[in-house]
Amino acid sequence: MYNDNPTLKDLNAKTIDESAQGQVFGTEFTPKQPGEKRYYIESYGCQMNFSDSEIVASILGEAGYGPTREMETADLILINTCSIREKAEDTVRKRLRVFDKVKQRHPGTMVGVLGCMAERLKAKFLDEEKLVDIVVGPDAYRDLPGLVAGAEEGEKGVNVFLSREETYADISPVRLQSNGVTAFISIMRGCDNMCSFCVVPYTRGRERSRSAFSIIAEATDLFDKGFREVTLLGQNVDSYKWENPESGAVVNFAELLTMTAGVDPKLRIRFSTSHPKDITDDVLYAMRDNENVCKYIHLPVQSGNTRILDLMNRTYTREWYKEKVDRIYEIMPDCAISSDIITGFCTETEEDHAETLSMVNYARYSMSYMFFYSERPGTPAARKLEDDVPLEVKKRRLTEIIELQTDISRELNAGEVGKTFKVLIEGDSKKSDQDWKGRTTQNRMVVFPKREGEKPGDYVTVKIIDSTSATLFGER
Ligand code: 5AD
Ligand code: SF4
Repeated sequence: MYNDNPTLKDLNAKTIDESAQGQVFGTEFTPKQPGEKRYYIESYGCQMNFSDSEIVASILGEAGYGPTREMETADLILINTCSIREKAEDTVRKRLRVFDKVKQRHPGTMVGVLGCMAERLKAKFLDEEKLVDIVVGPDAYRDLPGLVAGAEEGEKGVNVFLSREETYADISPVRLQSNGVTAFISIMRGCDNMCSFCVVPYTRGRERSRSAFSIIAEATDLFDKGFREVTLLGQNVDSYKWENPESGAVVNFAELLTMTAGVDPKLRIRFSTSHPKDITDDVLYAMRDNENVCKYIHLPVQSGNTRILDLMNRTYTREWYKEKVDRIYEIMPDCAISSDIITGFCTETEEDHAETLSMVNYARYSMSYMFFYSERPGTPAARKLEDDVPLEVKKRRLTEIIELQTDISRELNAGEVGKTFKVLIEGDSKKSDQDWKGRTTQNRMVVFPKREGEKPGDYVTVKIIDSTSATLFGER
């Protein structure tokens, strides 16, 4: 679901935003009927953004808009944007130039910017980017049809109000780009962590949790429709906390996991992202005790050095993080852990960097999302710290981390050869329609020959016979 950076792909590095190809939602092209309105939407950034686009699709559907994959036939072109690194924003600006060409060919087409970049730049977007008609922040999507109607009358529409309550709990996301097997469920919005490098608290506002009832209802509905895996999404899922307004009872994340696991033993549960300071033993026990909660934790370390972690305001030390890793492997020896890592943060020395390398070795990550530091305007780091590591140094350190991670991924995958796994079939493999692809509970991708009578959504047993750093290959 993350957009891959093609240049780093071979090194098993995945980045969230650096691809020029956003994911496009829409059904197959059918001729437009007179009076019918169509929207085209591209999404960039994190899984939360993709999940939000599904909410936007639902809101637009209610307002009478149908989806299209062809921007030439769209009445409304939307781009759901990411601000996390400069490169993500550059990509969006490039796409706006492309949309403008379409607009010139089809006058009257509206262009809207959604998401984090809309929130960060607000009305400035309309001044800077004359190409944009509508600017809508992550908490204002219900207002989208109204803003479009206004824009059609010549008004410039902006709503970047950040809410303390909005969770879109009552909206059923439209799963347009779906494989029919796996889906995201957004369980909370916003972030209160204030990592010094991060723009998210400013673009997505305060943390708030969605009603547990609505989450369970959505998971149940997905299961009934044939889905077999849900990923519970939040910037910091371990601080999920919802109070039942009727009983006053409080549901925490460990309890939510157990409740979701109870929907059906055949429904796999994943979640992302965990913060090392907040993940509790109770969450680990809930994982261990429920076979259908996948044995995989995305536990971003960011840096392996305590001084840098402190400057990043991560609120844990190297030792604390190592103890968390130990605890996870102690409670679930077969659990996979993945990470996010930033190289070249302000003041990072070669010794500090060496500690990040050693952490990658210590934690034995199954994979990592790796980035070099990109200063974001308005963040505490931008205000208080000097971005003083030269770009070549940041990039060289990034390459070192990527190479080490790739070696570890390759080693860990090679260690799976000979073992047998329960795999959930997701669909045809990329390379051959004679092969399925699916995942193990540890989130490792497996490619294996099809057998008659099988379909996506089935669980099958696969024996691993070969591997690369990114994929396992199996036989039946
Ligand atoms: N520069 C580089 N990477 C960043 N991330 C967040 N902010 C920045 C930034 N300013 C990374 C972190 C985070 C992931 C989603 O993106 O590793 O966990
Ligand atoms: Fe990008 Fe962060 Fe916004 Fe997601 S929450 S779209 S990663 S800035």
